[in-house]
Amino acid sequence: MKVSVVKNYDEMSKLAADIIASQIVIKPNAVLGLATGSTPVGTYQKLIEKYEKGELDFSKVSSVNLDEYVGLSPENEQSYRYFMNDNLFNHINIDKDNTHVLSGLEPDAEKECKSYDDLIDCYENIDIQVLGIGRNGHIGFNEPSTAFKAGTHCVELTEETIADNTRFFDSVEEVPTKAYTMGMKGIMKAKKIILLANGENKADAIKKAIYGPITPEVPASILQLHNDVVVIVDEDAGKYL
Ligand code: PGA
Repeated sequence: MKVSVVKNYDEMSKLAADIIASQIVIKPNAVLGLATGSTPVGTYQKLIEKYEKGELDFSKVSSVNLDEYVGLSPENEQSYRYFMNDNLFNHINIDKDNTHVLSGLEPDAEKECKSYDDLIDCYENIDIQVLGIGRNGHIGFNEPSTAFKAGTHCVELTEETIADNTRFFDSVEEVPTKAYTMGMKGIMKAKKIILLANGENKADAIKKAIYGPITPEVPASILQLHNDVVVIVDEDAGKYL
């Protein structure tokens, strides 16, 4: 793992955007694995700025997102499809037909998850996977558990994750309790992974992910098995490194 501790959120975002931009320049039809949440918003803003300056062309880029809440429609402002359109896709020249987010409205979990894994295989894997990390060490919605799950699957969100995500909803009751998430195989098959974290509340999870044992109790610890991971954290998230 290559670990960069940078001064602040802005520098973290700049470094991540520069890596993604370089990938798109050398491979215009790159497949990006994208994440939602507060962490990557600054990275997406920097990518939008590069597009607006004429430095980046997304017309041949495809994207595959990590996860989606079960039960939310793409029009719901809290859905991850809405988030991606709002924070990135609506502002760049990506073909939305080439952007993929799991469907939260598909009731048949097995069907939805299998077709997502087939899609990732069809792309011959993701070129760069962007990851945030939960306070509990989750990546995507792969929550702490007794075993790693390989394929895309439906997950019951932990109380900690529901509590953390309540800030985006009017009340805790509105936070969905289930999500579809890419599993560890889809993530680990990515050719390169960028793990981002900012803020002191992520410091413990980052320390355990990088230095702790590889265990499904800290899902991000599996990244130690990948041979091309760049960890970019601000000073607060990196305070134990
Ligand atoms: P956050 O979420 O970026 O909103 O902190 C990260 C995550 O839960 O993976």
